[in-house]
Amino acid sequence: MATVTYDKATRVYPGGDKPAVDKLDIEIADGEFLVLVGPSGCGKSTSLRMLAGLEDVNEGSIRIGDRDVTHLPPKDRDIAMVFQNYALYPHMTVADNMGFALKIAGVPKAEIRKKVEDAAKILDLTEFLSRKPKALSGGQRQRVAMGRAIVREPQVFLMDEPLSNLDAKLRVQTRTQIAGLQRRLGITTVYVTHDQVEAMTMGDRVAVLKDGLLQQVDSPRNMYDRPANLFVAGFIGSPAMNLVEVPITDGGVKFGNSVVPVERDALKAAADKGDSTVTVGVRPEHFDLVNGDGDESKKLAKGESAGVAVTVNVVEELGADGYIYGTADLGGETRDLVVRVSGRNVPEKGSTVHIVPRGGETHVFSTSSGERLSD
Ligand SMILES: Nc1ncnc2c1ncn2[C@@H]1O[C@H](COP(=O)(O)OP(=O)(O)OP(=O)(O)O)[C@@H](O)[C@H]1O
Ligand SMILES: [Mg+2]
Repeated sequence: MATVTYDKATRVYPGGDKPAVDKLDIEIADGEFLVLVGPSGCGKSTSLRMLAGLEDVNEGSIRIGDRDVTHLPPKDRDIAMVFQNYALYPHMTVADNMGFALKIAGVPKAEIRKKVEDAAKILDLTEFLSRKPKALSGGQRQRVAMGRAIVREPQVFLMDEPLSNLDAKLRVQTRTQIAGLQRRLGITTVYVTHDQVEAMTMGDRVAVLKDGLLQQVDSPRNMYDRPANLFVAGFIGSPAMNLVEVPITDGGVKFGNSVVPVERDALKAAADKGDSTVTVGVRPEHFDLVNGDGDESKKLAKGESAGVAVTVNVVEELGADGYIYGTADLGGETRDLVVRVSGRNVPEKGSTVHIVPRGGETHVFSTSSGERLSD
């Protein structure tokens, strides 16, 4: 068991004009499940491979526990990696695949057999031990790849998009199994995915990368509730947060007729930068319908504004919920908005609804730097 520390770790590929991973700083706790997430090319696999010893670290260092592993060969790091394509040996049985690394390490046969059988039990693979990989489903192969990592009892598991070859349903099942298994084994795990839903459901904490730069490391809850900048705000959450650029007014910012209170200091900071606007973020589920006649509608209090009129262009009914994709006139410009509504009360395409952002559920960002201004 061990902690993992990236200490300003940088990777510049030969011939590259900028780092693929730029001064990465993360401290991963013993037993923690940390997910690296971000768009294609942001440096997730490079970060993982640096920890594995498959990629040089050009600056900074990486530690596992209190061992500096920055320049250790992969085999001396006490890690086990699960790749996207599993890389199982086709001519070997499941049992031999799982035990191969131990055999190479000279572990006695009986001991290998015991470890493989124990891992197979955990992974529900006992009945497949004498089969070849080609006679297994994708999900079963994925579990064999996990088994191969487990039998080595490493200090750290590294996984690079291990579920991307599975179909949607199996991916959901398997991600629950992996997360559950990791918790039971308590082995520190760094897991790479480009899928923000996977990141949010599996990770104790999530690290968002963009262009080789760490944007935020946080629990899924904080990441969702308090995204540190515009990039994270737009990346985490599906459908994405509505982000609308609005003028700064005295004591707050205006979203349609609603004034969203923002601390004076934050507004001053934006104004000092020479910004005349800020960007307001509202998640689709944080609008209330007003003036309607369904159960969802909030009755208008005296003097309350009627909200922003949204023309409904597309309606997505998902059973429990529905999403409205519409347009609204905000500050003289037409904006696209996504609004979540109850699945029992979905407005019709072409109709108009009125919405107000729910108090305390709005986010304010600097338009120029992207950084979060609201609390
Ligand atoms: N061997 C290499 N030589 C040069 N550049 C590389 C090499 N491997 C990756 N890169 C570059 O480094 C950057 C980060 O790549 P990386 O594979 O870490 O991205 P990623 O986040 O894993 O993306 P994906 O989600 O597509 O797997 C990219 O711009 C990529 O083109
Ligand atoms: Mg990758």
